[in-house]
Amino acid sequence: MDGNGRWAQQRNLARTAGHAAGEEALIDATYGALAAGVAVLTVYAFSTENWRRPVDEVRFLMNFNKGLLERRQYELHDEGVRITFSGRRDWRVPKQVLKRMNEASALTDANRRMTLNIAFNYGGRAEIVDAVARLVADGVSPGSVNEKAIRARLYHPEIPDPDLVVRTSGEFRISNFLLWEMAYSELVFSDVLWPDFRREHLYEAIGEYQRRERRFGGLEQ
Ligand code: IPE
Ligand code: MG
Repeated sequence: MDGNGRWAQQRNLARTAGHAAGEEALIDATYGALAAGVAVLTVYAFSTENWRRPVDEVRFLMNFNKGLLERRQYELHDEGVRITFSGRRDWRVPKQVLKRMNEASALTDANRRMTLNIAFNYGGRAEIVDAVARLVADGVSPGSVNEKAIRARLYHPEIPDPDLVVRTSGEFRISNFLLWEMAYSELVFSDVLWPDFRREHLYEAIGEYQRRERRFGGLEQ
């Protein structure tokens, strides 16, 4: 969900005001995805690299994400959304934030209409590193290391690889998002800054996805 800082800057506001304005975008995109019948929506909320930001911004983001769960978990639950998290639950994530994350996943665990997977303290490389560490811990022999064995040790092996990845704010990078899972995803880049993103932009991206021809390394059918 990129472009919050620039959105704020354009309005002479603090960067954090841009993050706050991103909440409406997230909710509208989520309900738009629900209406479109999307099974899983994964959003990149905080990366393993975002700790490099000024402490005040990091603190704001921690509190903001905690508040967002407090404010929104019940309505999302009522809509049948299962809330999950991908990322490292390490010492850097404040206890109160972890508590809310656990609460939101427990509350919504049985929901099946859609999964909203929040990538938080997430890094694609970190996810692969963690999967490899689990392989070793599980005592898997070198001959048994294959894609299936690694896949099974990702944060959410039950979530299928994304068909479509949308990057906002005119950046043309992957930025350590879903590296393993994105191998054959269709990428759509949008100039819209995240706080301005609405379901219509998601639908435009889905439209573009539908015009693509997917071959997964094979030849067209
Ligand atoms: C994305 O917006 C939000 C997070 C990374 C938490 P940015 O903060 O990256 O906004 P820009 O890229 O500075 O505009
Ligand atoms: Mg950015």
